[in-house]
Amino acid sequence: MFIITASQVQAQDAAQKAKLANVSILATGGTIAGSGASSTTTIGYTAATVGVQQLIKAVPELSKVANVSGEQVFQIASESMTNDHWLALGKRVNTLLAQSNVDGIVITHGTDTLEETAYFLNLVVKSRKPVVLVGAMRPSTAMSADGPINLYNAVLLAADPGAAGKGVMVAMGDQIHGARDVSKTNTSTPDAFKTLDLGMMGYIQGGKPYFYHVSTRKHTADTEFDISGLNALPQVDIVYGYANMNPVALDAFVAAGAKGIIHAGTGDGSLAAKVKPALSNARKNGTLIVRSSRVGQGIVARNGEANDDELDFVVSDTLNPQKARILLMLALTKTNNSKDIQRMFYNY
Ligand code: DGL
Repeated sequence: MFIITASQVQAQDAAQKAKLANVSILATGGTIAGSGASSTTTIGYTAATVGVQQLIKAVPELSKVANVSGEQVFQIASESMTNDHWLALGKRVNTLLAQSNVDGIVITHGTDTLEETAYFLNLVVKSRKPVVLVGAMRPSTAMSADGPINLYNAVLLAADPGAAGKGVMVAMGDQIHGARDVSKTNTSTPDAFKTLDLGMMGYIQGGKPYFYHVSTRKHTADTEFDISGLNALPQVDIVYGYANMNPVALDAFVAAGAKGIIHAGTGDGSLAAKVKPALSNARKNGTLIVRSSRVGQGIVARNGEANDDELDFVVSDTLNPQKARILLMLALTKTNNSKDIQRMFYNY
């Protein structure tokens, strides 16, 4: 009969742990940490109520794919995420990734602004180590909650050496999406996260990630943006385009000190006749103007729906308005030159 002593078991456990990657889980709140009145409550629940240790405890299988540690960085519903939260989170991620005992990071997050936080980190993380954002469309108390399996997939993705150098990723619904091109496309269904025309990165299946696409744009270790010395980001606001639009919101944002405006125009970033003069005046007074589109897919082409050369506007390329805002904020920490900023929109 073969008897294993307690110290041999300990040695085996230690050897097993040594083989696994070290993944830090940073929790920020959201539905993945939400709770509802009953197992059938999938709307009208409270987001950001369950702590990170409880999230980890709810998925014991995590210990088989990585050595995980948990840190509660915030506990908020993500519609309330601010620039201050982003700067604190980005600095914390860079500090952790600089440590040799951290191999990857998972960030649990509300889904409302998950795509924005992911893109911000894609532009400021100074490492090739995997960073994966994950959320849930159903609260932890709901029947068929998607949070536990999403968290399990996110951790195994962050622990996988093949995930290095691919930029910040989003792991939702067994899919891997790139931070630049993913968006939340449904208010409530579990398949809400999609990368439409530009293609998602791959799948997570049977405990393994499978990659098929990577972004052609610069990110993470190749970024020119550095937030280490920043305590604030320049104010940039978004003006939404629609029929019968007027310049009241634009004028109010400029009067409130916006350093940049993202114009989420109709179609190919079109400018309503009533609004164009106000945009032109704002530019002449030093506010950076980016023409984006409310449409959500496709290129906003330079000198297409407006003479951007003459107006000295920038175009957002394929970035949606909320992501164009993030890139413009970071661009304005380095330059006010519209030509340099246009280059950044073609590079990131
Ligand atoms: N309040 C929303 C948020 O925190 C809930 C959506 C979710 O997390 O799925 O983003």
